[in-house]
Amino acid sequence: MKQPYIIANWKMQLSLNESLSLFGEIDEVLPEKNKANVVICPSYTALAKINEINTRKKIKLGAQNVFWEEIGAYTGEISTKMLEEVDCKYVIIGHSDRRKYFKEDDDVVHHKLKTVLDSSLVPIVCVGEDFQQRQEGKKDYTIISQVTKAFSGIDFKGNEKVIIAYEPVWVIGSGQAINAEDAEYMHEIIKQTIIDLFGVGIFEKIFKIIYGGSINAKIVKTFLVQPNIDGVLVGGASLNADKFLEIIKEANDIY
Ligand code: PGA
Repeated sequence: MKQPYIIANWKMQLSLNESLSLFGEIDEVLPEKNKANVVICPSYTALAKINEINTRKKIKLGAQNVFWEEIGAYTGEISTKMLEEVDCKYVIIGHSDRRKYFKEDDDVVHHKLKTVLDSSLVPIVCVGEDFQQRQEGKKDYTIISQVTKAFSGIDFKGNEKVIIAYEPVWVIGSGQAINAEDAEYMHEIIKQTIIDLFGVGIFEKIFKIIYGGSINAKIVKTFLVQPNIDGVLVGGASLNADKFLEIIKEANDIY
């Protein structure tokens, strides 16, 4: 049985008080027996405070970014250790916002991935083609290249966990997702790329592939029933307790 990941990315959208109350609203209603793996990635300031009120631990915490060095004079950065201290379990790497506004490229993603795999955190590695790449028929090539550059040379032992988030860049925040069959095709490309790099055994033990980009409760089921879609990364619809809980409910109803 699939245990789909439902991961909220709150980006830089909420104040500390808004984050605490949204977390409280979601946590209060989330049933004790929940099939979905629910993860919330708030801002850094909210992460520490939410950890204090997250006593039921039904929701796991994630960060939206991390640096590749472990300690040192790196003004403005945050380390894996600092995230572990606030019981953070997941971290997003290479989100399209980071690639766009902070010029993070596949090399940066690779460095961060290596550091995260040396920690207790589970990386959520984001990949995705932009509109022009898709228009020019380069979507498969773009995804294969991003995945290969991020993962090449990593030496997996077999006990790690990795989530790859496929997010077609132009649909993020647009209100219009791509269709689920199209996403499934792209997930198969990602799966095959990882199998080519590491073999099917490592893929099955370590990897999950989730979809992100304008997910809402109305369409989430069409994605989660696809054989190679293991969950969703949710931006806009995770900023409202009712909308996010509805997505979790839809996911729970499938299985
Ligand atoms: P969206 O964001 O759901 O608002 O499209 C997804 C993301 O940026 O991860």
